[in-house]
Amino acid sequence: MTDETRECACCNKTPKWKQDFPIEWEGDHYVTRREMVKFMTLGSLLLAGANWIAAIAGQVLHGGSKAERDIGAFSALEQTGSLLFRYPTDKDPCIAVRTPEGKLVAYSQLCTHLSCAVVYSKSDNALVCPCHHGVFNIDQGSPVAGPPTRPLQRIKVEQRGDRLIATELEA
Ligand code: FES
Repeated sequence: MTDETRECACCNKTPKWKQDFPIEWEGDHYVTRREMVKFMTLGSLLLAGANWIAAIAGQVLHGGSKAERDIGAFSALEQTGSLLFRYPTDKDPCIAVRTPEGKLVAYSQLCTHLSCAVVYSKSDNALVCPCHHGVFNIDQGSPVAGPPTRPLQRIKVEQRGDRLIATELEA
């Protein structure tokens, strides 16, 4: 017995759903394929639209990623070698490091693997993630060991007198 001829076992009548959608099996295939294409097209458009909206919302929420923020004293960074701060919002942990060569670099602390906080290791001169032993190069923030495959988000920081000012997220 096929779906087209299946009737209710108790009353031998055509079920209500079959009366509402009286499509034959061959036609059913055609409609299903066409509906699938429509669904996938619409789904793709919706996803593209949602991505676009999320990108715009991210720009707006981060103030265009160009807001300046005083993140601390340069003298404090010199003493400790690294300085934790938040940028561009209070929910975004970051770390600034003065490298042994005297270069000032700053990155988001969020590991690009599963978002644990990276810390500066003076002995390795690298940013390390304690969760799964990810290691990031101090000069570029690029992954050099462990599971991370993407570099850390860079933060542009300027020294103005003894103050350190985060100015923008680098692309
Ligand atoms: S979260 Fe950093 S290595 Fe996994």
